[in-house]
Amino acid sequence: MTSRRRPKARAVKAWAGRFAAPTAPLVEAFTSSLAVDRRLWPHDVRGSVAHVRGLVRARLLTAAEGKRLARGLGRVARELETDRFRFVAGDEDIHMAIERRLTELVGPVGGKLHTGRSRNDQVALDLRLWLRAECDATDARLRALQRALVVVAERHADAILPGYTHLQRAQPVLLAHHLLAYREMLARDRGRFADCRARGDELPLGAGALAGAGFAIDRAFLARALGFARVAANSIDAVADRDAAVEFLAAAAIAAVHLSRLGEEIVLWASEEFGFVELPDAFATGSSMMPQKKNPDVAELVRGKAGRVLGALVALLATLKGLPLAYNRDLQEDKAALFDAADTLARCLEILTVMLPALRFRTDRMASAADGLLLATDLADLLVERGLPFRQAHERVGRLVRICLARGTSLHDLDAATLAQHAPGVTPAIVRRLTPGASVARRRVVGGTAPAEVRRQLARAAREER
Ligand code: ARG
Repeated sequence: MTSRRRPKARAVKAWAGRFAAPTAPLVEAFTSSLAVDRRLWPHDVRGSVAHVRGLVRARLLTAAEGKRLARGLGRVARELETDRFRFVAGDEDIHMAIERRLTELVGPVGGKLHTGRSRNDQVALDLRLWLRAECDATDARLRALQRALVVVAERHADAILPGYTHLQRAQPVLLAHHLLAYREMLARDRGRFADCRARGDELPLGAGALAGAGFAIDRAFLARALGFARVAANSIDAVADRDAAVEFLAAAAIAAVHLSRLGEEIVLWASEEFGFVELPDAFATGSSMMPQKKNPDVAELVRGKAGRVLGALVALLATLKGLPLAYNRDLQEDKAALFDAADTLARCLEILTVMLPALRFRTDRMASAADGLLLATDLADLLVERGLPFRQAHERVGRLVRICLARGTSLHDLDAATLAQHAPGVTPAIVRRLTPGASVARRRVVGGTAPAEVRRQLARAAREER
């Protein structure tokens, strides 16, 4: 709330007629959602302005009354925008606060705004409008991170690092290829937010409390005015359903898990054991006790905050699962989960987008870690090219690996006699040609790690993120 002064005024309850006694202050505080839903005000005003136009079209308001209400809503919006809006005790949510202030400004005609409307369809509308905008904003943030990944990948187009399975060195891969894997995840995330936006692109307004407005309000007109693709087909569903919010949270949870995996990778890579990246000072923190420390807190928090986003999805699903149709006050809890998850995801995307290009990749360390026994598959592939079935080739190279491990040497140190015994036809000269560079180069399949293929993937990515 903006005002520090104790508000003198007190909002009159919309249901005062039915009640003989005032609401208990504790109940007022317990049921209020203003602190959370305040941010919906631009959508609430927009929805109300459209509703006013609908009421004028339905001849429930005169043109003059419509103009008065629309102007008044404009003034309320300006007060909210410039932080001059004075909330008063008993403003239980942003919807009631806006209507209360509107009536103060325009007089009794303000009481006509809610004609044919319930807070149930009003809040469902505001949420849809907010979700639509947030899907667009999230898409832009995801795209920015995709671009950052592509920029870093292009900068290190030739760098090779060990690819891992089971966190054991597996095969050499290009760093660009590895980074583009995250770009693919984000591409699917964008698809999920786009799906959520498209499926949620329906107008709830006109559903009333649940049965549909009792006046001939042109919902198709309202849908057009508010830029919705469709009118929600069932008024009961329109006020009871929160699928669009669930889908948003599911998409957010999956995206947050992707970012968490990237965060974890940065934590690992920044460790002295890996030493694959150096964190810029501006993106690291030190220890209050251990002078030598440089900690990857940003990456850790990105990993940690994913838990919060997952929690929000589960919280909303749990809120919904026992609810009979149609509106129940439990639904008010949707917004806290939704806003927190959206904000958390937004901050994680933003910080990774600036931190990634600032990381110093220690490509020398990566390259030396990508050499040695992780070329064993390439040796087996060589034997296959000489006619051996792969299973046999695997077994023979396995024996050679065992010999190397016992001797504490690498595949490149195997002598001619040992090779002749276990890998007939393969000479030390041939083994010497097995390098990380040769290993990646032969993986030219579509989606593989060969430089030519990764360049093609990079070009496609750059085209798509333009
Ligand atoms: N603040 C409420 C919400 O967010 C508004 C709807 C209240 N409706 C009602 N029938 N009590 O859901």
